[in-house]
Amino acid sequence: MSKVNEFISSNKDRFLEELLELLRIPSVSADSKYKADVRTAAEYIQKKLVEAGADKAEICETAGHPIVYGEKLVDENAPTILVYGHYDVQPPDPLDLWDSPPFEPVIKKTELHPEGAIFARGSADDKGQMYMHIKAFEAMMDAGVLKCNTKFIIEGEEEVGSKHLETFLLENKEMLKTDVVLISDTDMISNDTPSITVGLRGLSYVEVEVTGPNRDLHSGLYGGAVPNPINVLAEMIASLKDDKKYITIPGFYNDVLEVTAEDRAAMAMAPFDQEDYKKSIGLNDVEGEEGFSTKERASIRPTLDVNGIWGGYTGEGAKTVIASKAYAKISMRLVPNQKPDKITELFKAHFESIAPPSVKVKVTPHHGGQPYLTPTDSIAYQAAAKAMETTFGKEPIPNRGGGSIPIVALFEEILKSKTVLMGFGLDTDAIHSPNEHYGVFNFFKGIETIPEFFKNFAEMNK
Ligand code: BES
Ligand code: MN
Ligand code: MN
Repeated sequence: MSKVNEFISSNKDRFLEELLELLRIPSVSADSKYKADVRTAAEYIQKKLVEAGADKAEICETAGHPIVYGEKLVDENAPTILVYGHYDVQPPDPLDLWDSPPFEPVIKKTELHPEGAIFARGSADDKGQMYMHIKAFEAMMDAGVLKCNTKFIIEGEEEVGSKHLETFLLENKEMLKTDVVLISDTDMISNDTPSITVGLRGLSYVEVEVTGPNRDLHSGLYGGAVPNPINVLAEMIASLKDDKKYITIPGFYNDVLEVTAEDRAAMAMAPFDQEDYKKSIGLNDVEGEEGFSTKERASIRPTLDVNGIWGGYTGEGAKTVIASKAYAKISMRLVPNQKPDKITELFKAHFESIAPPSVKVKVTPHHGGQPYLTPTDSIAYQAAAKAMETTFGKEPIPNRGGGSIPIVALFEEILKSKTVLMGFGLDTDAIHSPNEHYGVFNFFKGIETIPEFFKNFAEMNK
């Protein structure tokens, strides 16, 4: 056994304990009531980077939550790897749907995780995956095999759009200079089908407000004669997709880079069981854009979804009322080469144009992000593929993901660096949902695979 692997196997309990401690800190970035906890998590990461052997580990203040920056420079002629991850987590609600409290991690066996899975908010997204890098770094330092300059950016605002990270990149270009960005914040096909995410979708996110009468009205006295903003909003939303589930916003698909028949055929070869997929989320059937498979609909195609809708009376019992206003939050997942700002503009123009003259409509853009593609012919991708092949005993499959990590496109734009998305989660980990969990197997597999990546990347860059 290599020195690195010996160190990992003799420190497993401690690594796990440390992750559990991090998971107990409720670092919810979206909710200001957790502001102090978010900072506590940043301080914990900083301390662990120092203990692992970083020369420098600091808390960098931003206008929002802090960024933790760490580095270990081994040799100016060696290649540099910049590890990115996030220590912030999604809000835990709805709380009553958790089988155990979200910030009191427990390890339980599941069908997919016979070795146990860690149940806690952030276990897979992204504390558990990010922490693998700190432990892999510690193992490489201990074994004296770190051959790449290593930089860490661990941020606290990923789940709220990485608002202040762009400024940090722009202001620290020289310090952050790197040959590649390495991220574990995505999933694999399964524990026996390793894969590497080679594409992320972009995002355009808007909030809409429809106003009817200037006050709430008695639904008997006025009902039938006036526009009901909730009914109107429902009709407007319904019209955003046609009967083939195509998005009806004019120009929406103009910039979509169509995937070649060859690439689609390759995608279709990857193992995917539609029945298991339906079963795992309790569906009798799936739906989506005509002419595309489930896998394709959730990765290489753009889409539009309502994420929240409200208005009127939602309390106990029945109140007869026509609300003055109705609201919805709508996301559009984008694919190369759609531009978030342009899509937001198209949405706004279209949404305003379909509103009946009886109501007023307001469209407010939220954060967005650009889509991303990782080239598979790069040294970095090859180094990752070889690393996973070593630890899984199988060559990983390149796989397009459906989620978004908006900062990845900015790493390319600002730092001129490509990103490798070597994630170890599973789509069944319930990220952003109640009972989020991360396999103990996945945690340690990641810790073992990362040093292989470093080794390959150093050798391939010689
Ligand atoms: N880690 C996820 C993104 C992800 C998960 C990509 C699994 C691919 C596979 C990330 O934390 C996330 O949730 N991103 C947000 C983006 C956002 C808040 C701007 C998303 O995708 O909704
Ligand atoms: Mn994440
Ligand atoms: Mn997330």
